[in-house]
Amino acid sequence: MSKVKVGVAGYGVIGNRLAAGVVAQDDMELVGVADVAPTLPVRALKERGMPFPLFAAVPGAEQGLEAAGIPVSGSFDDLLGEVDIMLDAAPGGIGAKNKVKYVAAGVKAVFQGGESGEVADVFFHGTVNYEKGLGVDYLKLTSCNTTGLIRAVHAVHASVGVVKTFITIIRRVADPGDTHRGLTNVLEVEPIPNHQAVDLMSIMPDIDATGMLIHTPVTHGHIITLSVTPKQKISVEAALEAFGNYPRIKVVKISEGFNSNSSLFQWARYMEYPRADMFEIGLWEEMVGHSGDDLLFAINIPQESVTIPETIDAVRAAMEMHATGAEAVAATDGFLGI
Ligand SMILES: NC(=O)c1ccc[n+]([C@@H]2O[C@H](COP(=O)([O-])OP(=O)(O)OC[C@H]3O[C@@H](n4cnc5c(N)ncnc54)[C@H](O)[C@@H]3O)[C@@H](O)[C@H]2O)c1
Repeated sequence: MSKVKVGVAGYGVIGNRLAAGVVAQDDMELVGVADVAPTLPVRALKERGMPFPLFAAVPGAEQGLEAAGIPVSGSFDDLLGEVDIMLDAAPGGIGAKNKVKYVAAGVKAVFQGGESGEVADVFFHGTVNYEKGLGVDYLKLTSCNTTGLIRAVHAVHASVGVVKTFITIIRRVADPGDTHRGLTNVLEVEPIPNHQAVDLMSIMPDIDATGMLIHTPVTHGHIITLSVTPKQKISVEAALEAFGNYPRIKVVKISEGFNSNSSLFQWARYMEYPRADMFEIGLWEEMVGHSGDDLLFAINIPQESVTIPETIDAVRAAMEMHATGAEAVAATDGFLGI
């Protein structure tokens, strides 16, 4: 089978990681990335000797890029003419505008969580509903929190079945370097239910989910605490086994030094993962317990990198590269070295 040709629109926090993720897949080719301005990641691309081409995402953008000394390989239409599928990681709302161009060019696309639901035919999660994405032209990924949350709830659901879940999200307020968000000393609250619980029900409609969200001024990951009502009681040991066997969940121990969100970020640095990216959600062993028969636990969401594997699964679904989610997830994870 010839390699699937992939392009990335928007070379920011998510786009630069999607590009690296695609480069790691032996059965895919990164044709190029598109952006509108000589941002820090775009400048770093030039410093690295342009390992893959950059295209101007909108007419006229080439002027600002070239003025900053960034080589531009062509227009957005040129990029669309060469790819089978686009991974759209432009700021929320821009993807819907780009979709008009994808439709005109007959190119498939995968959108990120910041786009509205109408942009895609299928709301996609690699480990839960891969088969729904098979051959579909436009898929939308769940947000970073939802992606990780669904992995953890599905681990219990696939083991004993889940009736309902209540979640609390301690949400990082900005990505590293987002100085435009200011230095805050606030815990901002939102009305219930949070969108992540609503989105979880969209992907897993048999589970009754609700929850609260509190923004907190940290940049290294979100933490979600969960209470899950199982169909049959599950012991702590069985739950840990289900989490441990589930793809993209890393069970860690407070007793070994994993005592915070930052400890997982530090771990990624010590492991010398590129950009300190973790693809797994962290799950603390000593935080798994019970309230009556309900299962309690907490997970860490590395917001910058958590959606990369499921996005690559979406390419595999849209291009019908594998018949089942299990095969697709195994291929993606193998190439990403998870
Ligand atoms: N940052 C996160 O933690 C995170 C996590 C999961 C999902 N997401 C979602 O991923 C998407 C991208 O978010 P991000 O944080 O990477 O944004 P970002 O601001 O870091 O990057 C967006 C990039 O798109 C470029 N851009 C602007 N207009 C464009 C256009 N017309 N065409 C192509 N590129 C354009 C910008 O110059 C920028 O480089 C959003 O939908 C967001 O909700 C973000």
